Amino acid sequence: MSATEPLPVNDQTPEFQDEILLLHQGLLAERKWISSIYFYDTEGSRLFERITEQPEYYLTRTELEIMRRRGDEIASTIGREAMVIEPGSGAGEKVGLLLRMLRRPVAYVPVEISRNHLEASARVLAREFPAVEVLPVWADFTRPLDLPQPLRPPARRVVYFPGSTLGNFEPEGAVSLLRNFATMLGAGGTVLIGVDLAKNAPVLEAAYNDAAGVTAAFNRNMLTHLNRRFDANFDLMGFEHLAFYNEAEGRIEMHLRSLRDQIVDIAGARVNFVSGETIHTESSYKYTDARFAALVARAGFRLEKTWKDPAGLFSIRYLILEPGYEITV
Ligand code: AVJ
Repeated sequence: MSATEPLPVNDQTPEFQDEILLLHQGLLAERKWISSIYFYDTEGSRLFERITEQPEYYLTRTELEIMRRRGDEIASTIGREAMVIEPGSGAGEKVGLLLRMLRRPVAYVPVEISRNHLEASARVLAREFPAVEVLPVWADFTRPLDLPQPLRPPARRVVYFPGSTLGNFEPEGAVSLLRNFATMLGAGGTVLIGVDLAKNAPVLEAAYNDAAGVTAAFNRNMLTHLNRRFDANFDLMGFEHLAFYNEAEGRIEMHLRSLRDQIVDIAGARVNFVSGETIHTESSYKYTDARFAALVARAGFRLEKTWKDPAGLFSIRYLILEPGYEITV
């Protein structure tokens, strides 16, 4: 074991016990579900990177294409001397493109729950952008947080939220998240956000059922992760990948479907599965222009600009917090 790996200890912290409670709640529910956060162990993050390279998975490639083709316009819309805040910055690969496009950005604030990713990305970006003050914040971006003050006052605060990550939140959760950004930003604050668009089911379903089976491996890897993290005994041969477009809800759903009647033990609970029963592991909401506009309005933002690729697969949006914004619940 390397010096940087955590020593295995019997974790009975309230945080871990809360995780177990939530997991049990999901698995003992009428319709079983598990939070998508459990996709992302080391192997899951690696598999997600491979998903973004699959020909059917148009999202990442298309978003980058929009950033490249419309970069000048995006940069001039944001204006000079911006402070860029990135919630869930991960390893910080995408933001370099934005920082290169912007005119004299003053600060970059990655907000990340993984301390390793946070430190690694802060180091890399500080080296690449010596003129940008890098102010990493170790936090869960779904909770309120205080922004650090850069030495030079920024002309503009912009939250950068690419990758259609918003799509993983239920509509109510998406509104709360945008309101949380609003509180953090204050009046005049802005958001640059990547939003995947509603489109015909075959294109969407192909993106989540790639021929090489990478998405299937990504979905099923959650079980390996749960077996390790919670000392569970999911049989990997007992579950298959399922992904489909739920048109009424406007979302891709991913599930793990039990191939037979079976019992699984997980962190002190026994969970019964009948053959064909599924665990809902992820929702990925796809927005029409109208639905997105309604969401933005509920959070107190004005939708200032929208950029799309020529085929209209994906969108990047620029939101401005209305002056006189107040939180109303
Ligand atoms: C990282 C949430 C944007 O929903 O498309 C990819 C995750 N799941 N393939 C998405 C994912 C299955 C991805 N997001």
